[in-house]
Amino acid sequence: MTSKTVAELLSQEVTLQEVTIKGWVRTFRAKRFIALNDGSTINNIQCVVDFENFDEATLKRITTGAAIHVTGDLVESQGKGQSVEIVVKTLEILGDSDPETYPIQPKKHSFEFLRENAHLRTRTNTFSAVMRLRSSLSFAVHKYFNENGFNYMHTPIITGSDAEGAGEMFKVTNLDAKNPPLNEDGFVNYKEDFFGKETNLTVSGQLEAETYAMSLGKVYTFGPTFRAENSNTSRHLAEFWMIEPEVAFMDLAGNMDLAEDFMKSVLSYVLEHNKEDLEFLDKRLADEDKTKPQAERSAMGLVEKIKFVVDNNFKRVSYTEAIDILKSSKPNKKKKFNYIIEEWGADLQSEHERFLVEKHFKCPVILFDYPANIKAFYMRLNEDGKTVRAMDILFPGIGEMVGGSQREERLDVLKEKMKALDIDEEELWWYLDLRKYGSAVHSGFGLGFERLVMFATGMSNIRDVIPFPRTPQNAEF
Ligand code: 4AD
Ligand code: MG
Repeated sequence: MTSKTVAELLSQEVTLQEVTIKGWVRTFRAKRFIALNDGSTINNIQCVVDFENFDEATLKRITTGAAIHVTGDLVESQGKGQSVEIVVKTLEILGDSDPETYPIQPKKHSFEFLRENAHLRTRTNTFSAVMRLRSSLSFAVHKYFNENGFNYMHTPIITGSDAEGAGEMFKVTNLDAKNPPLNEDGFVNYKEDFFGKETNLTVSGQLEAETYAMSLGKVYTFGPTFRAENSNTSRHLAEFWMIEPEVAFMDLAGNMDLAEDFMKSVLSYVLEHNKEDLEFLDKRLADEDKTKPQAERSAMGLVEKIKFVVDNNFKRVSYTEAIDILKSSKPNKKKKFNYIIEEWGADLQSEHERFLVEKHFKCPVILFDYPANIKAFYMRLNEDGKTVRAMDILFPGIGEMVGGSQREERLDVLKEKMKALDIDEEELWWYLDLRKYGSAVHSGFGLGFERLVMFATGMSNIRDVIPFPRTPQNAEF
């Protein structure tokens, strides 16, 4: 008799056989029916206890949250909605759970409450489904790149460079807080903070990934990134995971093709492999939708939305075209898109992006060729001298999912740009070397993994798709 998971037991053909299983009690009804979950699937297995065979003291300890070990016969179930159940022969309490204090009761809890109990929230259906999907998507990411000839590269977490030039970095320091080195003006000399060098937690692995693309050809990173922006939105974290492919000899059009193919591939993977979790989340959203006024309800269900993205082409639109669309749209006084006019040269606000994807195109949109002065220094300048080969991919309900570009490969143009932005050439000597020795067209993008998980799970707050969110409010765990 081997120990099996609930997922394995539920997918088996029923033949009367003795099984053994360990898991956590979700509910115990009528001193008879245990709903047992072990995290392997959204479904519980029902364990039927003949209470006459067990002493009262043991029965009392079968409480929500308790860890138990059951052996019994797997039989066809008489109950609705389950194929098999276990008729319990032996039952061992592995770990008690005091029903008075256990925070996860068998009822609906708010996501805010569960966020405060992030160490236990994966014992609920919603969060276990979300985190299984997150795991599955991670696997699909590696699978895609592996099957397409990419090398997985680990970029440094502690770094001296600000890849984005946005100044949103967390400092890394080994300074003695009580006795820090001071500069001539009496201020702390942070230049000496990490063994004599100013360093930060990485905001992006891109610059380092470029070095490997220029030798290994096709590479990608998939790791934690940090942004010290004090933004309290449902789409920003201080610590998030980013996927960054970088490819030599690939231009912006190739970059768009890669991003689109990649996203469709990983989403198809979960459609195929996470059916039950997706169906559960789909139903959760449908139920939530029913409580909303008609106008705010979603036109498509979760699975339908994912299928739509997989089956349809992303719309490719230049920044200039997008501005024309925004300018010709009437200002909408309604709350959500209250100001949709924009002038050429301005950075798009999230309400502009939402208007474009949710109201105008109603599908994922790849915006490209942005004005040079609103984008990072490393992007390839177009022949018009004022736009760069940048692309952002915008998703309905999410906003910006991907940011990427073709990189400036011409040494003189790059140096000029760095000079204009006051970026020290000496700090990035190694980055400039790539343009000195065997330079070539190359491109890449960064995809915020949590935003992808939000799209695939229908969760509306980014704090609910990462195990232990790091935001200005959440750093407990
Ligand atoms: O647009 P970003 O800043 O681009 C880069 O960092 C480039 N160096 C990437 C590259 O070309 N290799 O960030 C990329 C993506 C965004 O589109 C967004 O999905 C996500 O990372 N992102 C965040 N996700 C969660 N919380 C935050 N604070 C995020 N900031 C960016
Ligand atoms: Mg961006």
